Amino acid sequence: MNYVDAATAPLRKTGHIKLHGPEAFASMRKAGRLVAECLDMLVPEIGPGITTEDIDRLVFEFAMDHGAMPATLMYRGYAKSTCTSINHVVCHGIPNDKPLKEGDIVNVDVTLILDGWHGDSSRMYPIGEIPRRAERLIDVTYEAMMRGIAAIRPGGTTGDIGAAIQTFVEAQHMGVVRDFCGHGLGRLFHDEPNIVHVGRRGEGTVFRPGMLFTVEPMINLGRPHVKVLSDGWTAVTRDRSLSAQFEHTVGVTSSGVEIFTLSPNGLDRPPYKVS
Ligand code: MF3
Ligand code: CO
Ligand code: CO
Repeated sequence: MNYVDAATAPLRKTGHIKLHGPEAFASMRKAGRLVAECLDMLVPEIGPGITTEDIDRLVFEFAMDHGAMPATLMYRGYAKSTCTSINHVVCHGIPNDKPLKEGDIVNVDVTLILDGWHGDSSRMYPIGEIPRRAERLIDVTYEAMMRGIAAIRPGGTTGDIGAAIQTFVEAQHMGVVRDFCGHGLGRLFHDEPNIVHVGRRGEGTVFRPGMLFTVEPMINLGRPHVKVLSDGWTAVTRDRSLSAQFEHTVGVTSSGVEIFTLSPNGLDRPPYKVS
């Protein structure tokens, strides 16, 4: 796979990796920050009794209030502003009217389009007191994402991310999901390259400055295998074990990596301390 200047590339998947300039990075900073602010906004709202529909509505209204569009709305037939994945749901959970209850863990995944650019991020929200093993899973998943991101530098490869995540997670006897991966993005939601969360150092696509993509590992307390329910979206662990995910949108710089979706309020991971 080779690389093209994003400024002159067609606005679609072309099989090439788009390299973006400083103006794109400025736009991605804005889109990424807005998504982070949206996930921050949810922190005091999410607790026992709220439904994932309620969460979805809050995100839709936040987007409208800030001149943004939820990218998932009407995306390949998906009809919601978020994905809300509870307990053994790995990803792409569809918001519904069932209240969350004490002890649940929920991932809320938000992608907003601002001025044509996509920011994509997700975090875990514990509902009240959660079991110790759920806490451990969330901590390992966050740490796995950040280790993956820390492995990014120009000249490195996508395999460096996968290796960093896989070695860390498997040492904790947890499973890295293979069936879903991170993705290039920018003016498109899902573009080249795929960012696989397992692998070997030095293998895969070479990073070059200007690449934009997500790192979004899904980690299971049990085996890594998933199945998709008959709604065509909801992915669950085959062994019904708990699953967690975090996601950041990043860009490769001349010296390393920039994270666009960091919380401006230090709310990147639980426990969330709201002042
Ligand atoms: N936000 C998800 C991601 O991280 C994609 C959701 S696509 C949907 O790539 F259609 F399921 F919403
Ligand atoms: Co994503
Ligand atoms: Co996402």
